[in-house]
Amino acid sequence: MRPHVPLLDTTKMAWEPQDSMVGLFSKKLSFDPETGARTHLQRIDPAFGYAPPDKPHYHHMDEELFVLKGELSFDSKNWLGSMAYCFHPAETVHGFRSAVRAESWFISRVSKELDFCFYEQPVREERPFSLARSSPMRGVCVLADARAGEWQEVRDAKGALQLSRRLLSRDPKTGEGAMLVRFAPGWVSPHESHFHTVYEEAFILEGAIALADGTQYTAGCYTFKPPGTLQTRARSPEGGLAYINFGGPLDFRPASELKAFLAGAKQ
Ligand SMILES: [Fe+2]
Repeated sequence: MRPHVPLLDTTKMAWEPQDSMVGLFSKKLSFDPETGARTHLQRIDPAFGYAPPDKPHYHHMDEELFVLKGELSFDSKNWLGSMAYCFHPAETVHGFRSAVRAESWFISRVSKELDFCFYEQPVREERPFSLARSSPMRGVCVLADARAGEWQEVRDAKGALQLSRRLLSRDPKTGEGAMLVRFAPGWVSPHESHFHTVYEEAFILEGAIALADGTQYTAGCYTFKPPGTLQTRARSPEGGLAYINFGGPLDFRPASELKAFLAGAKQ
């Protein structure tokens, strides 16, 4: 499991050029040294010589993108710009006509150490397809605007809107997935100090979230909380929008149960 990343303000981090690819720059957000799973903020920039792969490819790990700005495509038909989302399960052939029309920034997640395999066979249809023996539980998902679609509203006892959630993709077996959460201005979490029994990873897209311990997450801030990370009560005076990845159903367990949970997790 990745270690706890309490807070990174990516707006204050420098872009690191990547030796393996010209025009690709990264801000490293979290990393699991055991599996190679990681999250980077990445920038691909044609003005700095970036050229996308000219052949279809696949990976042996799940690949997930959330675009912050720019214009990129895996097929030169469907363009992904700000607020686009894409999930390619392991062994999905994609990138038939990859193109980048403008400097693009995206959050890039991989579920284990990244590999890159070209697909050399002729293809019948330029649509992502799986090489896996059984079709993946969590399928391909490409959304040009992750905000479009169905939002689930959460209201308080008086009927006032507290937050709304837009599920993007989820593994039906493990519950691992991704969503957008929009916090209404003045939102205060009903949960005091609590923890989840699954990981939670968040990137703030708009607005701000503050914790009772003084931590402030503003737009561009990132956190990774492994299972059993204690978090104080959250609030959002001005409202906010967050891209959240989670390891399974996000349960809320009181701080009083943390010791027993951590003792059990070690066994
Ligand atoms: Fe890829």
